[in-house]
Amino acid sequence: MRTPLLAANWKMYKTVGEAEAFVSALLGGTEGVDLAGAEIVIAPPFTALPAVATGVRGTGIGVAGQDLHWEAEGAFTGAISAGMLVEAGATHVIVGHSERRRLFGDTDDAVNRKTKAALAAGLIPIVCVGETLEERDGGEMPAVLTRQVRGGLNGLSAEQVGTLVVAYEPVWAIGTGRTASAAQAGEAHAHIRSTLSDAFGADAADSCRILYGGSVKPGNVKELVAQADVDGALVGGASLDPNSFHQIVAGGRGTEL
Ligand code: 13P
Repeated sequence: MRTPLLAANWKMYKTVGEAEAFVSALLGGTEGVDLAGAEIVIAPPFTALPAVATGVRGTGIGVAGQDLHWEAEGAFTGAISAGMLVEAGATHVIVGHSERRRLFGDTDDAVNRKTKAALAAGLIPIVCVGETLEERDGGEMPAVLTRQVRGGLNGLSAEQVGTLVVAYEPVWAIGTGRTASAAQAGEAHAHIRSTLSDAFGADAADSCRILYGGSVKPGNVKELVAQADVDGALVGGASLDPNSFHQIVAGGRGTEL
């Protein structure tokens, strides 16, 4: 059985102080977050990563970078390497988010290099895939997902694929309030899993967790993760508030707060 994973992608939100306040609220609220039966990962901006890593130490909560460069070091102004993320306290890293693909030009080849660099440094990659509205309307969703999954994971071993995380984030559902229906998510996730199975074998496909992302909220997470191939969520806007994220963790685990 795959343990549900609920990941918070803060994007370019929260200062160090705001990140520390979030962690205190999540861990120290009246109830305190119940970590049984689910895994949690928080992806703060780079500047807040050490503070979040310090704040969650000993809890089992993971900390993710939101991107990385594939080289270990060099003249790459503004970039951060896998080794630097590890040293700052990261356990995971988001790779190929649609905002990186769309706004910063990340190609499938770049996603592949970044994924390999992350794995080599001992980070768990969260590799994002997803079609645009135009692609969906053109009936291209399966072909786009196949290309992004095969391109992004090209050359990896079955064992590596079994340990990493894929996030299905339909571009049209990100930040729009327009969530994929549970059936739409289920269909896309099943397609991703069968692509993984064809490329890396059934065992790798079975172990790999596939998260849904795109306007996930406390009110819809339970229905989404009830789909057979939806193993958790990658949450943007609704992860910025500790109470809201706490409710999403509870819903993603199949319980109510
Ligand atoms: P929203 O949850 O704000 O739609 O963002 C989804 C996302 O991009 C998470 O990576």
